[in-house]
Amino acid sequence: MYTLHDWTIVDDGKDGQAALENGNRLLVGNGYMAKRGTVEEADASSMPTIVLSGVFDKRGDMWREPVNAPDPLFAVLSMDGVPLTLASDKLSAHEQSLDFRYGVYSRKTTWDIKGAALTVSTERFASMDDVHLLCMKYTVSAVDGRLSPNVEIRINADVCDLNGPHLGNFRFEVKGRTRTLICETLEKKIPVAVASEVVESGSSSRLIEGSSYPLDLERANSVELFVFGAVWTGLDAEDPLGSAEKSVSRAKTAGWDCLLAAHKAKWDEIWRVGDVAIKGDDYAQKALHYNLYHLHIAAPRYKRRCGSLSVPARGLSGQTYKGAIFWDTEMFIAPYFLATEPTLAAQFIRYRIETLDGARRKAAEYGFRGAFFAWESQETGDDACTDFNVTDVFTGRPVRTYFRDKQIHISADVAFAVKRYVDATDDLAILKEGGLELILEVARFYLSYIYYSPERKRYEALDVVGPDEYHERVNNNAFTNRMILMVFETALSIVSFFKKRDAGFIEELTAKLDFSQDFSLMQDVIPRFYIPQPNEQGVIEQFDGYFRLEDCSLDAVRSRLKDPKEYWGGGNGVASPTCIIKQADVVTMLALFGNEYPVSVKEANFTFYEPRTEHGSSLSACMYALLACEIGRSDWAYPFFVKNAEIDITGKGKHFAGLVYIGGTHPAASGGAWLTVVHGFCGFSLKNNEIRVTPRLPSHWEEVTFRVALPDGLHEVTVTRDGWSEEII
Ligand code: BGC
Repeated sequence: MYTLHDWTIVDDGKDGQAALENGNRLLVGNGYMAKRGTVEEADASSMPTIVLSGVFDKRGDMWREPVNAPDPLFAVLSMDGVPLTLASDKLSAHEQSLDFRYGVYSRKTTWDIKGAALTVSTERFASMDDVHLLCMKYTVSAVDGRLSPNVEIRINADVCDLNGPHLGNFRFEVKGRTRTLICETLEKKIPVAVASEVVESGSSSRLIEGSSYPLDLERANSVELFVFGAVWTGLDAEDPLGSAEKSVSRAKTAGWDCLLAAHKAKWDEIWRVGDVAIKGDDYAQKALHYNLYHLHIAAPRYKRRCGSLSVPARGLSGQTYKGAIFWDTEMFIAPYFLATEPTLAAQFIRYRIETLDGARRKAAEYGFRGAFFAWESQETGDDACTDFNVTDVFTGRPVRTYFRDKQIHISADVAFAVKRYVDATDDLAILKEGGLELILEVARFYLSYIYYSPERKRYEALDVVGPDEYHERVNNNAFTNRMILMVFETALSIVSFFKKRDAGFIEELTAKLDFSQDFSLMQDVIPRFYIPQPNEQGVIEQFDGYFRLEDCSLDAVRSRLKDPKEYWGGGNGVASPTCIIKQADVVTMLALFGNEYPVSVKEANFTFYEPRTEHGSSLSACMYALLACEIGRSDWAYPFFVKNAEIDITGKGKHFAGLVYIGGTHPAASGGAWLTVVHGFCGFSLKNNEIRVTPRLPSHWEEVTFRVALPDGLHEVTVTRDGWSEEII
């Protein structure tokens, strides 16, 4: 069971389920890689992996997924040749924890051996200062007895994968005291190098040779070992092995204390800019800190030689969701970084600009023009999403899903992020460096997708999947249509802005993209593009015919399940013929375009859709919370904030879609927690580098303080229940 303290989360679970949950809960990482919160000796059943950001591999006809690195921190203690594990009948105490202020994982486990208490205590971190470095302190102590255990510390190349193995051609070498391993990914032959060295603490700072080491606890009560491991790939350096060796050599010279201090100093800087303080609600404060921690360990701050990176939907917690980037990044994660570290928000946009050709290929594949971004995007922008993304529980057969080909709002979400970034920062350079080209290509995609109905005398978007994935292939999804219109409006307004300031740029781009006819087409479409409007009760129909579906309760739909892992959507899903939706859909539209609708409409839709929403996606709660704040009901928003902020603390999010494992951390929910506090409760928005605030704190909150990085410095904003102030710090 876990306990959440200020900046620390502790868990004493020992079984397999706890190991899986703690893998996510106690994750350490630095945006380059992350090591799951499993014990050092964990076997494959606990998924003890180190996920690398932006390195992918495909095996046979299985899903392409991120590559896990060999583990330089693998260590197993044994007595008389018998490994001591959590399953051992000699286990007497066990606890693991994470210091989420500084990203340090700890573990303390005791076994009763011949009347003596033998304890392993470890600490480890993925350095924020040198992202290639994993450091561990491994302490073994004995009380009330004279024991001579043995510890084996080695680079574990027996990497577990969901759809692997992904590495081959292993070459181990011992060079002096340094152990090294070089191998390569199977598909693209990307070299992956790991080096490590073990040092015993003490005046002589003895370096340990070999991988198996007898510990003399008869002379000392305790022995402290330090393990310095480094991971490099061919995407980071010409000579990844040489770089890994150098990293380890530098680390060994610097020593544990120095490395830890440098790592903590980086975290101090991160919190100086990105912290949020809540007065009056200790639990919310702790939970928010925990969520911000998870955003930071997934954020790719380091510069890679080839191409920008973004944040995958499950962060770096594992291979679920194929390590892919979804709309989660643009809509839920980017806003936090836009306010606090805009260069990172810009990098997410650069990642999309650099993968624009993948989006063009996808549009062409379906017979469209322009850019249709991948629903699940990896390093090239080609879609990792398959046509059969879910497995049927009853038959074990793949189920046809339409996320890849019909969830067309993804392109608009990407364009929206560019618009939001430019609106907030006034950074026009990004538009000239591919941002406007991206928007125009997205606009062109929609121009080729939409359809003019001569009967209804309007343009429509038919056959789509909105955010609510349980209802596939619907017509005129309100959210999707509004987003498409936003793209057209944004494209034309940016173009007309540049025409006055930099006409040459527009002429050049128009010629390059051969876009002049599309400008005229967009002008024709905008006034005639259909946006579903509120009915007499103020409710906006989610898509054509939604109101005709069976209107039953969530419980009724749940009671129809024949298997708890059954998929609710698609052809046979329990939710498909009903009004029960997976996640915020119309509500997302209202949360994004709130200024276009009166409070009465927002309230009507909140109260209509909320009881009909399963919140089966971690992206749902945040949008409900934001809309509730807009309605002025922070009391409605608060439970959604808690639900959202708790998902990775409790570990009780959805673990299966059909038979497919989807567990891991939820950075979109973490971004959603920040969005709810800062955009929702504080009513913050940023326009042309100007901060606006409309306080609507929950009744038991006294004050919220957050920071915003603007060109003139770091602004600290303090919001109380009835006012706010701002100062440069
Ligand atoms: C949600 C999507 C989301 C994806 C990744 C799905 O369950 O329906 O909206 O992008 O998970 O988080």
